[in-house]
Amino acid sequence: MRRARESRPEAAGAVGAPLGHDSARRHVTGEARYVDDLPEPRDLLHAFLRLSERAHARVTRLDVTGVAAAPGVAAVLTARDLPAENDIGPVLPGDKVFADGLVEYWGQSLFAVAAETLDQARAAASRAGIAYEDLPAVLTVEEALARRSFVLPTQVLRRGASAAARARAPHRLSGRLAIGGQEHFYLEGQVAMALPREGGTFLVHSSTQHPSEVQHLVAKVLGIPASAVTVEVRRMGGAFGGKETQAAPVACVAALLAWRTGRPVKLRLDRDDDMIFTGKRHDFLAEYEVGFDGEGRIRGLDLTLASRCGFSPDLSGAINDRAMLHADNCYHLQDVTITSHRCKTNTVSNTAFRGFGGPQGMMAIEQIVDEIARALALDPLEVRRRNFYGRGERDETPYGMKVEDHLLPELVAELERSSDYPARRRAIARFNAQSPWQKRGIALTPVKFGISFTATEMNQAGALVHVYTDGSVHLNHGGTEMGQGLFIKVAQVVADELGVGVDRVQITATTTDQVPNTSPTAASSGSDLNGQAARAAARTIKKRLAACAAAALGGKPEEVVFAGGQARLGRRALGFAELAALAHRERVSLSATGYYRTPKLHYDRRRQRGRPFYYFAWGAAVAEVQIDTLTGEYRVLRADLLHDCGSSINPAVDLGQVEGGFVQGMGWLTTEELWWDAAGRLGTHAPSTYKIPACGDVPEDFRVTLLHAPNREASVHRSKAVGEPPLMLGISVFHALKDAVAAVGDHRLSPRLDAPATPERVLLAVEELRARRAPAELEEAAE
Ligand code: MTE
Ligand code: HPA
Ligand code: MOS
Repeated sequence: MRRARESRPEAAGAVGAPLGHDSARRHVTGEARYVDDLPEPRDLLHAFLRLSERAHARVTRLDVTGVAAAPGVAAVLTARDLPAENDIGPVLPGDKVFADGLVEYWGQSLFAVAAETLDQARAAASRAGIAYEDLPAVLTVEEALARRSFVLPTQVLRRGASAAARARAPHRLSGRLAIGGQEHFYLEGQVAMALPREGGTFLVHSSTQHPSEVQHLVAKVLGIPASAVTVEVRRMGGAFGGKETQAAPVACVAALLAWRTGRPVKLRLDRDDDMIFTGKRHDFLAEYEVGFDGEGRIRGLDLTLASRCGFSPDLSGAINDRAMLHADNCYHLQDVTITSHRCKTNTVSNTAFRGFGGPQGMMAIEQIVDEIARALALDPLEVRRRNFYGRGERDETPYGMKVEDHLLPELVAELERSSDYPARRRAIARFNAQSPWQKRGIALTPVKFGISFTATEMNQAGALVHVYTDGSVHLNHGGTEMGQGLFIKVAQVVADELGVGVDRVQITATTTDQVPNTSPTAASSGSDLNGQAARAAARTIKKRLAACAAAALGGKPEEVVFAGGQARLGRRALGFAELAALAHRERVSLSATGYYRTPKLHYDRRRQRGRPFYYFAWGAAVAEVQIDTLTGEYRVLRADLLHDCGSSINPAVDLGQVEGGFVQGMGWLTTEELWWDAAGRLGTHAPSTYKIPACGDVPEDFRVTLLHAPNREASVHRSKAVGEPPLMLGISVFHALKDAVAAVGDHRLSPRLDAPATPERVLLAVEELRARRAPAELEEAAE
């Protein structure tokens, strides 16, 4: 019996097993604790932030005496009342905890109040006396470009001679595309709870992707050492990049109020305030001039990308760099100039959002390729294929990195076959020929996404593993859980390394006092970095255990095999728990840290040259849509996705990432529209006006497949990062919509359609196309 239990397939396929999310059950039963679910300390105060109601103004009066005197109020803080620094810019200065005499966007924080209840705090905040003196506001990319208002210097990425190459090309086109921003709409909003502890130290529960940065910024605003601040994150209810930097002000305000009152303080933003106060995906304006040959091959390209960064730099430097580095997508561009303007506007400071600028760069080149195909009356897929990176030639990106794994041609061929693309395109043409008002469209778009932080120094991670004498394992690492399944994947790696079942591995909250100086969980690199670090820690302990086992069983340490919950040497074995207890008796440490840094990276940001990415993740999608040309409404009838996850550590989790990423990308390019009024006030600050995709918007027929091909680089178990890349599969929906609109003009004219392609914009594009078609048809009739 005992033997049978011991040989239970405890570690059977820990890596590669399609295990559910470790908290899946708790998520749906409500047992999973988010910051706002933590038991509230008896003396907890609730905080409220008062936001500015001008886009750009001098604050001529800020009188909070009425606020301080309101019922239940324990403290009020303005920029004047801070013990140390006010600036919490993550990379460069510019983001303040509280506006100091000047507001630079509608929604900037003016002051905070802490009271016994949230209602009291909110009511008190409304009692402030505030007066403004308006200053001229720059709100849009166009205005910023006209005034050369930039948060950071313009960058240029150049290879060859694009202007000369365009001049020589047989065909030329120019155009522009506006690409909208996106609200993160994490279900759990920004929240933090700060608890003062003994000796002037603080514990901060924060919903952040970047606990180390929150720790440092809290320490900075309090004027205390980082070692006096511990930041803990068990999980986030979604982040999507929106909690890489944007969690910090909330945590800092909670900590400052806790410092001021000596009591625990919680700050949880209301949804509307969250949407108004925090940064979003950058909207972009792309303008291009392209020269190409009769087959649709790009000969020369000048592309200008301009993004709305908002009032401060935040992460805009790296985001716009990533946009430039993805403006090739899967296409070889020999003679190319990419110019990137980082526009300063009096709007919220835009920030990281799944893809981190990459999606906007890719939208630009996909538009260009699509326009070329329409100009030549070729199938856009054919033009895409002709421009793909090649094997051994045409294989270098504009920034000088070689494309070494050529999965794409086969991946696209496979998807084309499995989705039945050619036959469906013909069927759609037949459908459109007999359907005057309903029109269908189809598009296949590819994705290449660079994996690594472009800031090379961020590509490092740490972990801490303990084995207890009962054989249970404590796992901690610097990565944060935001629903993406990082914790279960890293637990699988550790279980596999120690040859035990994943149930033995206790997943624990991320905390800055266990693993220090971490990078944000971002750039899709969470499992690559933390998986390797945790594996290194487990391996250290395993080596020590192997020596013990060898001594006990008689043999060589390197011959000990850890599998099935045992350490085996030939035919003799010790149970893992037995071995752990033995090691302890032998005075062998059962605790180890692990560390990892990504190899091969080098990147000269100034010259925009090098190898910023360890590898690329690939994918492609086919979307088919139907539009109603009388209303602009549409549906996605079917989507076929084929996505490269390398050798997946957890195909169930990865599949969820691919599905969710696609739907989020589709939302970005279809129904999610941000709208600001002429005063710079966000009008779309609630789900009633801001439309994320709902269950009913998921394609009726949704076929998602993972491509299982080992990573050619030595990533953790040859897997590939999966968090962000599938978002860009959603670009297929935009192009399918464009294709359906083009059917209105029998594919002889190219529709004018910006993103997001809301039903309203689709309708306008249809009508504009009809208006353009009419004179052309008259001319034809006259011939
Ligand atoms: N998936 C869920 N469910 N929730 C999220 O917030 N964030 C995305 C992606 N997938 C996100 C998600 C973003 S922006 C990134 S960078 C990655 O997850 C981060 O996690 P990873 O590096 O572990 O993939
Ligand atoms: N991706 C995501 N987040 C980041 C990056 C990046 O490349 N660089 C800095 N923060
Ligand atoms: Mo993701 S945008 O890198 O947090």
